[in-house]
Amino acid sequence: MSETRTSNFPKTLPAFLSEGDPTTAKVYLAIARAASRLADELPLHTGMAGGVNPSGESQAKLDVFSNDLFADALLETGVVGEVASEEMEEPRRSNAPAEESLAVAMDPLDGSSNIVTNSPLGSIFGIWRGRLPQSGRRLVSAMFVTYGPQLTLCFSHGNRVCQFVKMRIGPQAGEFVLASEGMRLPDPPEVYGFGGERNKWTPRVEAFVRSLEERGLKLRYGGTFIGDYNQVLRRGGIFAYPELKGRPNGKLRILYESAPVSYLTELAGGASTTGRGSMLDITPTTLAETAPCYIGNRNLVREVEEQFARS
Ligand code: F6P
Ligand code: MN
Repeated sequence: MSETRTSNFPKTLPAFLSEGDPTTAKVYLAIARAASRLADELPLHTGMAGGVNPSGESQAKLDVFSNDLFADALLETGVVGEVASEEMEEPRRSNAPAEESLAVAMDPLDGSSNIVTNSPLGSIFGIWRGRLPQSGRRLVSAMFVTYGPQLTLCFSHGNRVCQFVKMRIGPQAGEFVLASEGMRLPDPPEVYGFGGERNKWTPRVEAFVRSLEERGLKLRYGGTFIGDYNQVLRRGGIFAYPELKGRPNGKLRILYESAPVSYLTELAGGASTTGRGSMLDITPTTLAETAPCYIGNRNLVREVEEQFARS
């Protein structure tokens, strides 16, 4: 008698999540469904929407579409009471009491300047209890999506980091299946990517990048936080959107971007810093507050802190 082949297939997302917290599972499954739809519809929503987001950035039609898609999907789960987004001035709320529901902060389409060039895009979600803003230290879980050659989900499951990939053909077509579990940032580190123009980096940022180059790390910078960060997660290294001359708080938004990714990084054995301590220890006072951020292998992040403390 031959064994059924199904037992050799990687676990699907619903099967995997059935072993964890059911509330978080509802949120993850809602994001997975919406991300699949967004990936399918990327070519349908081209061009600019005409508005600007709370950070003053011009909104693409895809920014607005993805924002509404994820916000609706999250609120429909019944377990999310508040959705705050990089694309909205004010959070959207359900009638659920704050103390009994989750709050999600999201960047629904990270790297939207990459739409026109067909380069990687992402979505980022931080999940808290209660109301926002809160520090990253209080995150319950986090997830990011990559829209690249493959559609992937990376998220915390308990204190482990997992990555799922969407199958397009074969017996599991249409399913997200387990690709990596218990992810750790590889060592030795191989790649680095620092945002902002080089002539705007402060001298201590430039000195640090020079030291990375001198020891042979390779530059990998595509202009989308999630795409660039995912390379650090898979190959080891450091991603930063650093302090700039005239822009000491960098560009990345703590709640929508850097805290959720820092949370996953720390679970995967890496570290994050603003230059003076973990990203996770900042409690932003406004939803769109930014901070310089350096995320990656622990040794490199500690070096940033040590070098900055001396300068
Ligand atoms: O969300 C902001 C963002 O688009 C990130 O995805 C990316 O890392 C960064 O801006 C790119 O900024 P710059 O063009 O200044 O390097
Ligand atoms: Mn972004």
